[in-house]
Amino acid sequence: MRLNLLLIGICSVFIITSSWLINHDSLSSVVFLKENQQPLHIVSDKFLSFGLDSSLLRNMKKLPINDHKFINLVRHLSPAYVRIGGTNADCLYFEQVCFYKYINYSHNLVDDADISNFTLTSNDFLSIYKFTEKTAIKMIFDLNVLLREPNGSWNSDNTKEIIVFSKSHEMEIDWQLGNEPNSFLHVFNISISAQQLANDYCKLRTVLNELGYQDSILVGPEANHVDNEYKNGVKYGIDFLNNVNNCVDYFTWHQYYLNGHIAQLEDFLNPKVFNRLSEQISTMGNAIRSNGHNVSMWLSETSSAYGGGAPKLSDRFVAGFLWLDKLGYSAKAGVKVIIRQSLFGGNYAMIDENLDPNPDWWVTLMFKQFVSNKVLSLNTPDNFGNIRLYAHCALKQTFLNGLPAVTIYGINLNDEKKRMYIQGISNKSNIFAYFLTSDNLQSSNIFMNGEILRLLSDGSIPPFKPKIIEVSQGIELPSYSMVFLLIDNVKIPSCLEL
Ligand SMILES: *[C@@H]1O[C@H](CO)[C@@H](O)[C@H](O)[C@H]1NC(C)=O
Ligand SMILES: *[C@@H]1O[C@H](CO)[C@@H](O)[C@H](O)[C@H]1NC(C)=O
Ligand SMILES: *[C@@H]1O[C@H](CO)[C@@H](O)[C@H](O)[C@H]1NC(C)=O
Ligand SMILES: *[C@@H]1O[C@H](CO)[C@@H](O)[C@H](O)[C@H]1NC(C)=O
Ligand SMILES: *[C@@H]1O[C@H](CO)[C@@H](O)[C@H](O)[C@H]1NC(C)=O
Ligand SMILES: *[C@@H]1O[C@H](CO)[C@@H](O)[C@H](O)[C@H]1NC(C)=O
Repeated sequence: MRLNLLLIGICSVFIITSSWLINHDSLSSVVFLKENQQPLHIVSDKFLSFGLDSSLLRNMKKLPINDHKFINLVRHLSPAYVRIGGTNADCLYFEQVCFYKYINYSHNLVDDADISNFTLTSNDFLSIYKFTEKTAIKMIFDLNVLLREPNGSWNSDNTKEIIVFSKSHEMEIDWQLGNEPNSFLHVFNISISAQQLANDYCKLRTVLNELGYQDSILVGPEANHVDNEYKNGVKYGIDFLNNVNNCVDYFTWHQYYLNGHIAQLEDFLNPKVFNRLSEQISTMGNAIRSNGHNVSMWLSETSSAYGGGAPKLSDRFVAGFLWLDKLGYSAKAGVKVIIRQSLFGGNYAMIDENLDPNPDWWVTLMFKQFVSNKVLSLNTPDNFGNIRLYAHCALKQTFLNGLPAVTIYGINLNDEKKRMYIQGISNKSNIFAYFLTSDNLQSSNIFMNGEILRLLSDGSIPPFKPKIIEVSQGIELPSYSMVFLLIDNVKIPSCLEL
């Protein structure tokens, strides 16, 4: 009798628990991956790229481009662009030297506020280039547009010196001219109209073609302020496009969500902050299309927070959410390249002052290992809330069995675990799951499937150990986690094509 009661008790607990689970499940995510689909977009093979701020060139001794630890970390992120640019690009004067020359800079602080002019020697330029060769990344160099003629046009003399020097060393470089020109009045008390800048860009295109760089790409105008408050970046960008004809290959602008001086932890978890990116991309995209232009966009300088990033946030685990969501959303919107500010330097660095990887370096590494440039569509119930997921073809080398594979990646911003199911795929597929979590949102530690991520002592990447999950089981996303799900044997043949 007692045993029976106990059994009934257990059974009813079980029934209650399982019906609660089912109810709970109905609130969780079901995503649908359509088979035999064609890619939505094909982004650049250097889609995920990064910047080194030109201000770092003021003090070359502090730039670790010759350090083997730094070189090793960057090489793992190839292929990518490194954009050498920023406010200080418009303070930079190139000087050819035949031998090593000691230059005593009176302003040697890395400080956004320092807008004094400075010199970059050809020796230093060459050593930066050698760094990009060793790491197999492509340099984009931002040229000084503030060298002007009395009549207001751009003086290209110093640029010609850089270009002739580059050609004589057979350097392969892509280019841009100036930084955030719509803010010149504020920063430099100088004004250059979008029309004038377009002329300057066309002049640079001619110079490049004449001096042997006809195959290199030129991107611009590097506008900023593309948000609701100050839309002058949108107007400036469109005025530029209306005048630049085909002198630029990609339309570039800068994107930040937050002011680094005042940003709080909550901002890094608030979907409304995440959604600013989609608003900015559609504002810019609509303006381009409504003016009849057909040009692809790059986010050529972008991070969580401007002003050097937010201390103890932009370089911590929590910054990974904005970063991974930016990659996913931008690729889905057809943005071709994302240049993360920054690889090194500032609170938003991916590699810290001791040349150890910050959590975003690891997120970046995983993206490079698992995500190809073919963007797929993934039907999700709501990708503007706390669970945000994206799909791409997996990288070809990820699976050796010759069958197409897909990577679904994204974030769970909830403070509790959430269950998700993937529909549309065969239950014969396997899911290889990698969950990224931390011991604290503001920690510098990042864990994969519960194990802390650290490079091996020889600098190589530790083996990534997936959790293997059956499709029918569903996937449990840990609270505050990022996830990469590799799914094999998915019938999307275009994932196998080049
Ligand atoms: C560099 O210049 C500053 C100011 O002009 C001077 O005080 C300092 O002694 C110089 N340093 C060297 C190593 O020459
Ligand atoms: C910096 O160089 C530009 C271009 O030559 C010049 O117009 C400007 O006056 C210089 N700024 C300072 C502070 O010397
Ligand atoms: C401005 O001056 C430069 C150098 O003197 C000259 O090459 C250029 O043609 C001039 N541009 C205009 C629009 O007058
Ligand atoms: C800005 O430039 C104008 C002349 O072009 C000058 O009259 C004014 O004093 C400058 N403002 C500042 C803050 O330097
Ligand atoms: C836009 O340009 C791309 C290639 O640059 C081309 O494939 C596409 O057909 C163009 N679209 C329109 C509407 O002109
Ligand atoms: C897989 O799906 C097929 C067809 O829908 C079904 O017959 C089979 O029982 C499923 N297998 C498993 C292990 O769920």
